[in-house]
Amino acid sequence: MSVDQSTETGSDSIPRIDFDHHSPEYRANWRTLSDDHLARCPVARSDAYGGFWVVSDHAAVSQVMRDDATFSSGRNTEDPSDPKQGIVIPPNPIRQIPLELDPPEYNPYRRVLSPYFSPTSARDSLPFAEQAADALLDRVCASGRIDLVLDYGNPLPALATMKLIGLPLDDWQTYAGPMHRVAASPPSDPDYQHNLQIMGQLGGAIAAEVPRLRTEPGDGLLSGLAKATIDGEPMPVEDVVTTALLVIQGGLHTTTALFAHTMLWLADHPEHREMLLADPSLWEHATEEFLRVFPPAMGFARTVTRDVVVGGQQMRAGDRVMMSFAAANRDPAVFPDPDEVRLDRSPNRHTSFGLGIHRCIGLNHARGWFPAMVRRVYERMPDITIDRDATKQNESVGVINGFVSMPATFTPSEPLGAAMPD
Ligand code: HEM
Repeated sequence: MSVDQSTETGSDSIPRIDFDHHSPEYRANWRTLSDDHLARCPVARSDAYGGFWVVSDHAAVSQVMRDDATFSSGRNTEDPSDPKQGIVIPPNPIRQIPLELDPPEYNPYRRVLSPYFSPTSARDSLPFAEQAADALLDRVCASGRIDLVLDYGNPLPALATMKLIGLPLDDWQTYAGPMHRVAASPPSDPDYQHNLQIMGQLGGAIAAEVPRLRTEPGDGLLSGLAKATIDGEPMPVEDVVTTALLVIQGGLHTTTALFAHTMLWLADHPEHREMLLADPSLWEHATEEFLRVFPPAMGFARTVTRDVVVGGQQMRAGDRVMMSFAAANRDPAVFPDPDEVRLDRSPNRHTSFGLGIHRCIGLNHARGWFPAMVRRVYERMPDITIDRDATKQNESVGVINGFVSMPATFTPSEPLGAAMPD
């Protein structure tokens, strides 16, 4: 894959691109490649991973995401020859519930989760996140050094998600460690496979909690799943586990990735940083703009269930389709001057949370946690300087466009004495 690739049109007149979202070229050039696809071949085929459509323009991405009957999220783990292989290319061996279910099977799972993700629940989670932020910053403030990803960006959303689920906070790293490594590596990496196995073992620990939670319910999400019924029967323990694991994963990498990209950008734009710190009301639109320009999840997949035309291209039942949120968010037909970061951009119909029935259930939480994370760092470490040379991006940005490490220095200060909330 190269930036100056030419789009070929095969004998079947289908536009073809040399595209692998897990490649180093995509990691380095995802904006240029996305713009190229948008301009020349917004709906095209890639031969990678057995072949799939790459859908780039906003109208086509919206069509695919909104039509869940024609574009299935479903995953058949029993039969690898079934084209329905979920929302990740190549498929993730662990089926993600409810993300990889279609209606009507999907509906009761989303219903069980919904109360834990209401605007009120998100508002209630904010004091915990703010106190955890101070406790984490207290650990490093006297040293003058912080790794914005390892010391803060990873643990904060992880702790807040563990709290939401009702799992022991001290275990955050046990879950987050392997999940971050899976999200950061290409599937061809042996580390990816190894950490998937560890995630399977973590599922065993969650399953062991379910019988107790069925007799002594608590108030966390895991307890809600344990006592939920599906078609009049208790939710299968396996589904409780995969749903809890998905919520942990959803809560972890995404907010962290958004935070880290934003910190890098604000380091280069001090006047915008000052504006945001001086006027908290600017964060509402600014958060959406940072989500547009730095999509944490670069794109997800669907499987075509019946022949359909998208962007002038004939797709067939069984075809796999990758929706590029990264490209759709840069579509000049919807976002004037897409390269420009406009903190007050409105309307801002970015696709970073998805659209349609699977639209991110955690968006209220992310919209609260993210600005609090950024603000607190600048309030306590106003002269923070990121060491760009030592900053390390994920090896693959194909699923999550995040960072493994982002060291920084600042003038040391006294701890505030903030205890980690429980
Ligand atoms: C900046 C932060 C976030 C981004 C960009 C993001 C992105 C997304 C996207 C794009 C989807 C839809 C995938 C699809 O349609 O195939 C999704 C779904 C989901 N997200 Fe998020 N997410 C974020 C934060 C969170 C948080 C904080 C949580 C939980 C604590 C969470 C949990 C979930 C879950 C459970 C789903 C599946 C929803 C369903 O299938 O109905 N996400 N997210």
